[in-house]
Amino acid sequence: MNEAEAKPEQKTRADEIRRAFDARYGGGAGLQTAPWSATIGLLLSHRSVRAYRPDQLPADTLETLIAAAQSAATSSNLQTWSAVAVTRPDLKAELARAANRQRHVEQCPLFLVWLADLSRLERTLREEGAPAEALPFLEVFLTAAIDAALAAQNAVVAAESLGLSTVYIGALRNDPERVAEILALPSATFALFGLCVGYAANPDAGAVKPRLPQAAVLHREQYSVGDERALRAAYDAELEAFSRRVGMGAQNWTGRVKERIGAPGSLHGRERLKPTLRRLGFPLR
Ligand SMILES: Cc1cc2nc3c(=O)[nH]c(=O)nc-3n(C[C@H](O)[C@H](O)[C@H](O)COP(=O)(O)O)c2cc1C
Repeated sequence: MNEAEAKPEQKTRADEIRRAFDARYGGGAGLQTAPWSATIGLLLSHRSVRAYRPDQLPADTLETLIAAAQSAATSSNLQTWSAVAVTRPDLKAELARAANRQRHVEQCPLFLVWLADLSRLERTLREEGAPAEALPFLEVFLTAAIDAALAAQNAVVAAESLGLSTVYIGALRNDPERVAEILALPSATFALFGLCVGYAANPDAGAVKPRLPQAAVLHREQYSVGDERALRAAYDAELEAFSRRVGMGAQNWTGRVKERIGAPGSLHGRERLKPTLRRLGFPLR
């Protein structure tokens, strides 16, 4: 069927798909007939938001987000994560200070802190008088971190489906011991990242940030570097144009990689994470 023969609703759907892919990849993705659903439309339109209205969230929103989070798959059903919901202005202010003074942490009505939490397993086994010999291994910490990330992302999708906005806050790892103090965390818990949740100050602000071309991240059957250099150059141009459009100067991806990964100082204290984790009750054997 050519475009002239397409029914109006088919044409609208094809336009919606093309617009969504173009936004995500910066134009030219050329997909119009991809399998489509409202959920996929929501996922492709994700954007982080860094300015919030003070409005409170409707009743039971927190519980709904956590139910979505708990619906994520979890390794061996161990459920080795917890979340701390912070709404108190004094605690949010302290957390913002620990996270490089990011204003949105104070501004958002709900700040969720996602924990790798092995303390619950530790307590369970202690109460049972059972050994916990696998607990100190890196693998178990990694499992908890993976489970927490999957849970958090479910909460993000749920929030966005309700018209709420979010932004993750990895800067909580700049000073994990201070965060543990602020939130009264027990040993064997670690605040992996925070999540601002609320209503965008300007719902029309922000734009879908283009990602690397699929060919750079999707390897078919076996890993192949392919024309990564050309793909990177194209993406640099795309992201630079995007950054100019949204008033963020002329940032490109290669520049960002150099800035973040060139020297340990750019990790803002996170380069000392291994000893910090040990002090917080994760031996990481
Ligand atoms: C684990 C994680 C930690 C992040 N930490 C921060 C942060 O501390 N501050 C911030 O403004 N954005 C943070 N972000 C948001 C990213 O900068 C953002 O997702 C990325 O630039 C892509 O933009 P988009 O989410 O709008 O598509 C974080 C994202 C992730 C996944």
